[in-house]
Amino acid sequence: MKIIIINGPNLNLLGKREPDVYGNQDFESYFNALKNQYPTIDLSYFQSNIEGELINKIQECGFDYEGIILNAAAYTHTSVGIGDAVKAVTTPVIEVHISNTFSRESFRHQSYISPHAKGVIIGLGLKSYELALYHFLNQ
Ligand code: DQA
Repeated sequence: MKIIIINGPNLNLLGKREPDVYGNQDFESYFNALKNQYPTIDLSYFQSNIEGELINKIQECGFDYEGIILNAAAYTHTSVGIGDAVKAVTTPVIEVHISNTFSRESFRHQSYISPHAKGVIIGLGLKSYELALYHFLNQ
């Protein structure tokens, strides 16, 4: 089973960035622990700060992977293009957010991804990713 985690802008700074909001752990160490926990899954990870690169990756994986776990970060609230890409592909996409975007500024309450996502997991910290993975493995 091929599953990819795609992270958007500034998520390469996890561990250093606003730890009160996003926690102290960097994503690489979280991802490696997740991979060790699920050794039989072909689990990969891609991060970019560039909108078009995220769209390219969604298109590249979106017709033969079994699942995409997408945290488009700030682009969630601005990108019609990423929303369209999620709509265009056949691979189911689960939208995740580390923080509870609904308890934050109102501009974070809008998502261009959610209408096209299979499901949305918000505000459960890095555990949000594992819960999305759990869904793909247990559906
Ligand atoms: C985020 C929430 C977004 O509003 C923010 O721009 C991010 C991270 C989250 O995971 O909580 O960069 O997607």
